[in-house]
Amino acid sequence: MRVHKKKHGAERLEACGNIVIKDLRAEGNSSQKLFGNDKPLRIEIGCGKGDFIVGTAAKEPDVNFLAVEKVSDVLVIAAEKVKASGLDNVRVCCIDAKELTEIFEPHSIDRIYLNFSDPWPKARHEKRRLTYRSFLEIYKQILREDGAIYFKTDNRGLFDFSLEEFKEFGIRMEKLTFDLHNSEYMEGNVMTEYEKRFSSMGVPINRVECYFK
Ligand SMILES: C[S@@+](CC[C@H](N)C(=O)[O-])C[C@H]1O[C@@H](n2cnc3c(N)ncnc32)[C@H](O)[C@@H]1O
Repeated sequence: MRVHKKKHGAERLEACGNIVIKDLRAEGNSSQKLFGNDKPLRIEIGCGKGDFIVGTAAKEPDVNFLAVEKVSDVLVIAAEKVKASGLDNVRVCCIDAKELTEIFEPHSIDRIYLNFSDPWPKARHEKRRLTYRSFLEIYKQILREDGAIYFKTDNRGLFDFSLEEFKEFGIRMEKLTFDLHNSEYMEGNVMTEYEKRFSSMGVPINRVECYFK
């Protein structure tokens, strides 16, 4: 994702108030601490500009959502969108997915969304892919035993790599499709920014649900 340095990024994040969690370790790692209730907590990793989290949270008021993004100049756009939506079941935080196990209790997260993760096409960069086995270890640790990863991407190379990683890991896969928009799983689908862009160009979208148990 191309990022232009945002003017006044820190002030803009500050202006979003309690939507932005500055320090997850200090401020909270559970629905109770972040939202003051015990609704299930779901995380989107690499939320980009926030279309998916806002659309999904609006449809599911009985769930809490935390959108994480490692680039703060991208997160600021998501944060402002959440603020404008008036939703009270979304928080955003600038962290790297690598840090998740240091923050969350084991088996405390209901679901993880990976949407259009960076493909890192060069083999020497495969460890950076968010579906590489070291990331799967992280997700397994923080997800509830019946929790799931919902993954979608336009990138067939990343998808094929990910399916192999999932298989090696003993992950059970459900609702797998290589063409989400022409599949039975399209109902209720909330589009991300990348999804809008690639599907409008005619690129098929791959999608799967993953369970560790
Ligand atoms: C290709 S963009 C997709 C954005 C959005 N999910 C969408 O579908 O439009 C991938 C995003 O993931 C973020 N990202 C990549 N690796 C990450 C990591 N390890 N932790 C948190 N965010 C990450 C990037 O900064 C980027 O904003």
